[in-house]
Amino acid sequence: MIDQVTELVAAAREAALNAHAPYSGFGVGAALLLEDGEIISGCNFENASYGLTLCAETVAIATANAQGKLRQIKEIAVIGGKLIDGRITGVDPVRPCGRCRQVINEAGGLSGTDIIVHCASADGSAVEHHKLSDLLPHAFGPADLGLA
Ligand code: THU
Repeated sequence: MIDQVTELVAAAREAALNAHAPYSGFGVGAALLLEDGEIISGCNFENASYGLTLCAETVAIATANAQGKLRQIKEIAVIGGKLIDGRITGVDPVRPCGRCRQVINEAGGLSGTDIIVHCASADGSAVEHHKLSDLLPHAFGPADLGLA
């Protein structure tokens, strides 16, 4: 039987193939695991005005929010690599950018979870497992604004 992390990485890989990344040629997919087992995915969405690009992780989390499921996120898988012949390629795991770590932190605060981040290489040869608190120590959050 296929395990849950493998399934989550596969969903992220599938989403990466839908990346709109004509400028970087780098496709990224992210897949969220919710507390009831549901998976919600997203991919990067670039813009001719480069700075407007949306990362895969942020798209996935915003999709969960739009479905009223922001508080249910427990884990996220991220995968990415150069898009060549309609496939993502590369041997190195992709780790969320700094902005995405902050966005994941917001979701984790709402679900009361130190979200597990599975970082996968495009070819599937490597998957790292991190707690968000290890990727984003001393995070800025609601408490810094005087909110619980
Ligand atoms: N990208 C993501 O989607 N997530 C990340 O965490 C890092 C970067 C995207 C943005 C851009 O479309 C491409 O990867 C190259 O930076």
